[in-house]
Amino acid sequence: MRRLNLPRRPRRLRRTAAIRELVTETAVTTADLVHPLFVIDGEGTPQDIGSLPGQQRLSIKDLVSECEELHRLGVRGVALFPSIEPALKDAAGSEALNPETLVLRAIRAVKQAVPELSIFTDIALDPYTDHGHDGIFNKEGTDMDNDGTVEILRQMSVLCAEAGADFVAPSDMMDGRVEAIRESLDDAGLIETAIMAYSAKFASAYYGPFRDAVGSASAAGTNLLGKHTYQLNPANRREALLETELDELEGADVLMVKPAGPYLDIIRELRGNTHLPVAAYQVSGEYAQIHAAAQLGWLDLESCRDESLLSIKRAGADIIFTYFAKDVAQRLQKA
Ligand code: PBG
Repeated sequence: MRRLNLPRRPRRLRRTAAIRELVTETAVTTADLVHPLFVIDGEGTPQDIGSLPGQQRLSIKDLVSECEELHRLGVRGVALFPSIEPALKDAAGSEALNPETLVLRAIRAVKQAVPELSIFTDIALDPYTDHGHDGIFNKEGTDMDNDGTVEILRQMSVLCAEAGADFVAPSDMMDGRVEAIRESLDDAGLIETAIMAYSAKFASAYYGPFRDAVGSASAAGTNLLGKHTYQLNPANRREALLETELDELEGADVLMVKPAGPYLDIIRELRGNTHLPVAAYQVSGEYAQIHAAAQLGWLDLESCRDESLLSIKRAGADIIFTYFAKDVAQRLQKA
């Protein structure tokens, strides 16, 4: 056998577990994670969500207990999503502006029980509209009414901030909404409420299970809601960066890329382009596909879960929204 004359043998640093750990470049910690949670009205027991194994819609009381537990585990934030009765939905999403609407009661209850936990609330109309879209339609019914929708999102943001949300998170992709929301929050004296903009939100098929969870799919009669006139074309990298730039100029405090796993290139590039924190949302479909393959015995759930999150962190995300947050926090606590 001929011995290779190699000046560099990178495998030396992979020889033992101790050395591998010493040269590890990236680690996901519990403090990076935000857990999305679904809330329902009433005192009922938790409802399973078929396409999101392990996730449930919770009553406010159970939501509060879950938030207490997440806080004990070291998770730093939760994103709250209401799943409301179909009877409360209409074309204008009016329930979003009801001062006693479910999500506002949920915010108040969680803030009171665990004030240290950061609360993110989604600002978009899809849980409230009978067509499942994030905004209201124009008179012709052909497209979203951008400016009319922004007017509603301003009011919705003020209500969520007054209820105690630490971050309002516009996920609607209307033009100009960040600046408008900042203006309305400031006018209302809510200068401390931060804006996390879903800046690079793609028109993705990976949102399917979420749409089951909040009922926007059943309201619309399809999981493949066409949101292409507002969400980004998955083919477009430059346009995504333009959206993040505009949101930064308009006053966003945190910029988000969503989904995460299929868009690691966007996370990486955004990380190099801004000094703001970058968040990434590992969406429902990314979570569901790992679970589905694991249920079939085709992939190992925990290793794939950890690898998927590590990749998102390595790409440059500072904050990761993931339905795996609790599982990971539990694993890290034991480690
Ligand atoms: C809606 C919203 C969506 C998600 C978060 N906020 C879905 C959509 O745009 O239809 C998806 C999250 C997920 O899939 O986990 N504004």
